Amino acid sequence: MEHQQERCRRVVLVPLPFQGHITPMLQLGTILHSKGFHITIAHTQFNFPNTLKYPHFDFIALSDGVGEQTISAHNFIAVISAFNTNCKDHLRESLARMMEKEDQHNKTACIIYDEYMYFAEEVAKQLRISSIILSTSSAAKMLSYLAIPRLQNEGHIPLQDSKMLELVPGLEPLRFKDLTISYFRKLDDLLQLIANALDPRSSSSIIWNTMDCLEHSTLAKIQQEHQLPLFPLGPLHKMVPAISSSLLKEDQRCIPWLDKQSHSSVIYISLGSAASMDNKDLVEMAWGLANSEQPFLWVIRTDSRALPEAFQEAVGDRGCIVRWAPQKEVLAHTAVGGFWSHCGWNSTIESISEGVPLICQPYYGDQRVNARYLTQVWGVGLEWENDMNRGDIEGAIRRLMVGKEGELIRQRAKDLKDTIKSSMNQGGSSYNSLNELVDLILSF
Ligand code: UDX
Repeated sequence: MEHQQERCRRVVLVPLPFQGHITPMLQLGTILHSKGFHITIAHTQFNFPNTLKYPHFDFIALSDGVGEQTISAHNFIAVISAFNTNCKDHLRESLARMMEKEDQHNKTACIIYDEYMYFAEEVAKQLRISSIILSTSSAAKMLSYLAIPRLQNEGHIPLQDSKMLELVPGLEPLRFKDLTISYFRKLDDLLQLIANALDPRSSSSIIWNTMDCLEHSTLAKIQQEHQLPLFPLGPLHKMVPAISSSLLKEDQRCIPWLDKQSHSSVIYISLGSAASMDNKDLVEMAWGLANSEQPFLWVIRTDSRALPEAFQEAVGDRGCIVRWAPQKEVLAHTAVGGFWSHCGWNSTIESISEGVPLICQPYYGDQRVNARYLTQVWGVGLEWENDMNRGDIEGAIRRLMVGKEGELIRQRAKDLKDTIKSSMNQGGSSYNSLNELVDLILSF
């Protein structure tokens, strides 16, 4: 009974309100709720979720002053800075009011915040409660951030065009072009954001949507640097019953279409929630898919009207195009045998958890880091670095889906899936990490 009462504790979650960040935070909330915690989501008005989908959570809407905007790599830093400036007072006042009404059996234990919503740590300190960081990307990305001061001292930053293909000392197999900073034009702003996001300040620990079996040595290096407990709990989406946190409506029509395709025959193409191909590349992709003769499921978020009519006639029922797919269900479907991906961290984790090998076409941010690990370290993907042209696209799809090389990659992907699965079983690393995290929160 004592134990039950102890667990009537509240945890406040503060997600960064972009699709690839909201999803893992809500998954974490669902996991902690299943462990007996009350959950409050303090969410910006920007991209505020449909609360009806989450009757088990309480919500606080934070005024952010950001308005309606489409997020891209170009306004990413400015929007994050605005959240950190504008939401702080509102979060503090809302939580202070909430905490005034608490009794000893229903106390707020801590705030768990996305690494980019670092204002929440200051609020936790002002309210004298603990805070924990959730890092929604790979440990390898964080390690590459941690190396920035050293790379600056060694004169590698600003990056030089002539060195882009060289390996980064101490971060192999990453090349300079794979570093997140290679894409951003306003380097000072990005370096400041990274410094803010990296500084654990007084936070007590870091939670990750990754697995110890996947990133053991990288996590060990970060542990050495930060001297904080790390909780690699991934894959979060496999630890909870499916909840859809999609901001866009999922088109379920692709599932009956997949049901009609043969085992491991379909190549699934999706570039996540922000990256997209321009019209020229879309047309090349279309003909590459048509000429590959493989069945395909293609997510085109933007506008599929650029696709030539002759392509639609050529592929007929062999292709299915949607604006937004139920991706986790798609990747778990037995008909799917390959994933042409931008390698966002969620897509990466969702794919390897199902043993689906990838063609890696990273765009920006951490995607190049993820692509490099998928292809060079875990050996479950083919690297796509060419300009988009139909001949090469057709060739890459055939290499993965029907070639000998593809068979080897598929086998490695299956082995990795089994290893990941074991980490979630009783006694596995993610299973143990979750229990340790619960104990830590109960100790606050
Ligand atoms: C962004 C960055 O691009 C990524 O690099 C970083 O790691 C997280 O933030 P995003 O572009 O949204 O992420 O990609 P990703 O991390 O892969 O997340 C996309 C999410 O949307 C996944 O959970 C995926 O299942 C979901 N999705 C995508 C759908 O449900 N349907 C779709 O059609 C496409």
